[in-house]
Amino acid sequence: MKVVVTGGAGFIGSSVCLQLKQKYPAYSFTAFDNLRRTGSELNMAELKKNGIRFIHGDIRCREDVEALTDFDALIDASAEPSVQAGLNNDPAYIINNNLNGSINCFNTCLKNNATLIFLSSSRVYPINRIEKANFKEEPTRFSFSDKQSEKGISKLGISEDLELSGARSFYGATKLASELFIREYCEFYKLKAAITRLGVIAGPRQMAKADQGVATLWLAKHFWKRQLSYIGYGGHGKQVRDILHIDDLVELIDMQLHQTEKFNDKVFNAGGGLYNSVSLQEMTTVCEQITGNKIRIESELQNRQADLRIFITDHSRISNETGWLPKKNVETIFTDIFNWIRENEAALKPLLS
Ligand SMILES: NC(=O)c1ccc[n+]([C@@H]2O[C@H](COP(=O)([O-])OP(=O)(O)OC[C@H]3O[C@@H](n4cnc5c(N)ncnc54)[C@H](O)[C@@H]3O)[C@@H](O)[C@H]2O)c1
Repeated sequence: MKVVVTGGAGFIGSSVCLQLKQKYPAYSFTAFDNLRRTGSELNMAELKKNGIRFIHGDIRCREDVEALTDFDALIDASAEPSVQAGLNNDPAYIINNNLNGSINCFNTCLKNNATLIFLSSSRVYPINRIEKANFKEEPTRFSFSDKQSEKGISKLGISEDLELSGARSFYGATKLASELFIREYCEFYKLKAAITRLGVIAGPRQMAKADQGVATLWLAKHFWKRQLSYIGYGGHGKQVRDILHIDDLVELIDMQLHQTEKFNDKVFNAGGGLYNSVSLQEMTTVCEQITGNKIRIESELQNRQADLRIFITDHSRISNETGWLPKKNVETIFTDIFNWIRENEAALKPLLS
């Protein structure tokens, strides 16, 4: 199989290339990336060492994308992944990158008769519907109450049944718009595509920044004894996310590459789920245990724009229909990030500390 991974030097893209190349040495992998994300350049040496072809290109440039030929599958992992993008600055960049750039990728898939694997986001779900959900305040976290009036919200989290009308952030809007266009390509041009709405993905190789990559950010600040803040929702760090280990995502992408029929024409949620959910306060405890360091955590009362009190992925549908399930728990995720930082301390310090 010949596989192109756009955003192939990023967190998910480089992990997919490296892990699947190791599993399928006879396959060819091409990592295509414009290296806009600070830190992605650090992955290039390892890609090269492992026989992964690198192309410096930009999905916004049609000619760059059209130059990709002779491949069986394209994994589109080249978006700007921050929910904050476009909220306080010109949204033109994120719309052009995440939507128009993705459409160039869909077109090149058609020309090559290749399968598209599209990494969508849980951020397609409208903010107000999730924020209006009934919740409980527990000693270390918020949780969804048993009783909910909105279809698609339950104790297990947010399912694909949640109604999609409402604002969701520019990031979420570019992902939903991409999903809608993929549907048109599938219907009218018979494109084969797998779409997954991913929750928070975490693990080694994520070059965290203040607004994206919370698990690495939390661990790194503990590792180098820097300061952090609990922002919004009372400033106690009780807001909750579910987190999925990158290895579990690579396993899912492996299934999507080889059992496309299970995913074609469907949209699934995939994330760590209730079992792998964790509040910021709980993350602090895990990071303290793993690093042995305790740091100062400030409180900021003002909520961030587009933030959510709780997001947990209800992944029942994908698990029931395909058998995929997350295997690695929260402690493993943080331990793996810790080991990666420790082994690459010198290179990562300027970026993550
Ligand atoms: N990380 C998560 O928690 C998460 C959750 C849901 C969905 N996703 C989606 O998964 C995909 C990969 O995310 P990630 O976490 O690996 O992000 P990342 O920032 O680590 O990787 C993205 C890569 O794409 C490259 N890139 C950006 N714009 C490009 C362009 N115009 N042309 C070519 N390359 C470009 C960047 O340089 C970077 O290397 C994105 O589509 C993101 O929206 C990620």
